[in-house]
Amino acid sequence: MSERVRIMLSEEEVDKRIKEIGDQISKDYEGKQVHLVCVLKGGSFFMCELAKRISVPVSLDFMSVSSYGSETKSSGIVRIVKDLDEPLKDKDVLVVEDIVDSGRTLSYLMEMLRDRGPSSLRLCTLLDKPERRVVDVHVDYTGFQIPDEFVVGYGLDYDQKYRNLPYIGVVELD
Ligand code: IMP
Ligand code: MG
Repeated sequence: MSERVRIMLSEEEVDKRIKEIGDQISKDYEGKQVHLVCVLKGGSFFMCELAKRISVPVSLDFMSVSSYGSETKSSGIVRIVKDLDEPLKDKDVLVVEDIVDSGRTLSYLMEMLRDRGPSSLRLCTLLDKPERRVVDVHVDYTGFQIPDEFVVGYGLDYDQKYRNLPYIGVVELD
């Protein structure tokens, strides 16, 4: 069986949209410093591109999480594989994710980060699959709402492959 990737959102479309979001964030955070929290690994490509498009001062931190085994998955509990280096207290925190799917990971993560006392906490995702939502999660900035298809590229992987594609695509098997 061979794999092909069909383009869903071209490099130009993604870049243009990231620039728009960057402009919006720059306006919304005027006079402040925005502390970007990247959820590894998927959010890393998006965060780097987005950070370059933000004109207010930016600081960065990274964390990595993984879902617990399937029997606890419905609880939405996630395990921290790598925690942030810096405290969030009194910072204007913007979490940057690749995709919101069921919403389980993000709803848990946002609650956990809120407990660390940031002065504000918002969520920015490149992609959103609203049809798949199981747990309600408030998204402040969305790149694209997409249909319920498994996508790769721009940080998103299929079996750890395709993260480096500069566009968003759908893996097709034939
Ligand atoms: P959620 O907790 O179901 O919202 O899970 C979100 C995570 O699942 C994302 O951060 C991705 O790592 C992964 N994921 C969800 N949908 C896709 C997809 O279409 N392609 C690649 N990874 C995905
Ligand atoms: Mg992710």
